[in-house]
Amino acid sequence: MIGFSTSDSQKANSQRQNCDTQCSAQRVAPKLLLALLLISSLLPGTHGLSKHHCLAADHPKTPSHALLKSPQVLVIAHRGNSSQAPENTLAAFRGAVDIGANLVELDYYHCADGIPVVVHDRNLKRTTNAVRVLGIKDPLVDKQTLAQLERLDAGSWFDKKFARESIPTLEQALRVIQPGSTTLIERKGGDAETCITLLRRMNLLDQVMIQAFDWDYLSHCHRLAPQAVLGALGNKQLSKQRIRAIQSTGAQFIGWKHEDLVKDDIAQVHRAGLKVWVYTVNQPARAKQLIDWGVDGIITDAPAIIQPLAKVKR
Ligand code: G3P
Ligand code: CA
Repeated sequence: MIGFSTSDSQKANSQRQNCDTQCSAQRVAPKLLLALLLISSLLPGTHGLSKHHCLAADHPKTPSHALLKSPQVLVIAHRGNSSQAPENTLAAFRGAVDIGANLVELDYYHCADGIPVVVHDRNLKRTTNAVRVLGIKDPLVDKQTLAQLERLDAGSWFDKKFARESIPTLEQALRVIQPGSTTLIERKGGDAETCITLLRRMNLLDQVMIQAFDWDYLSHCHRLAPQAVLGALGNKQLSKQRIRAIQSTGAQFIGWKHEDLVKDDIAQVHRAGLKVWVYTVNQPARAKQLIDWGVDGIITDAPAIIQPLAKVKR
């Protein structure tokens, strides 16, 4: 006969209690997690929903999809934390991640070797010492090899203390930004296949967002990677025709020049099922007005100044 001694019975009770605790924890944990995530999105300094803190229950898709649908206005560091460090350098990207920007924007072209590199102007004169180092009057990024670009100082123009900054490759930038934020990749030059192939190799297709003024490029990205979150950049007047054209690319948000946007445009774009981000907003009063109008994201050179204004949307 199999009997229970007192210690067996205590063990069984204790196991049952453990099981009860675990089972009840399993029932409660998802709700608790959701509650904690909601609270964290409301707390100042938690910078809303990072890619690691998406509302999985509300948005069961991917991190970048979840971030796009965040209930909080997103703060996007334009070319990194570019008011404090030279734009589009690893220093600017680290700065943006450190202050908790929801996304970190950058610009890329292909260099002469076909490798995507991060810089805003096609002509390297403004942000590097290429004229002196390469001995070229008008040095164009797509005409230089990566080896030539690596010789350039991309930081001294901003401040001598950044003299060691160079032009990063897109891959280097992604490796710096992605662990702590989400990269908003703006394509200035180069084909869609190269970017999508790089993101696929790095397993980042659903972890970043891609934007471009060239909407054909976006359509191509969408065909290659339908899961990628895409944004159509633009300026001037937003017409119904343009909104329809944007929808047809597969884009899910617009990034519009804030001076060209009127309040009614925002509701119109929302009705089309697209989010509205604006660039480049550095004045807090203007950011506040745009947030009150209902924009979903602010692209700014001064993310630390705009962050306190970024509230949960109505
Ligand atoms: O993010 C949008 C904004 O970056 C577009 O303008 O010239 O700064 O690349 P630009
Ligand atoms: Ca840009």
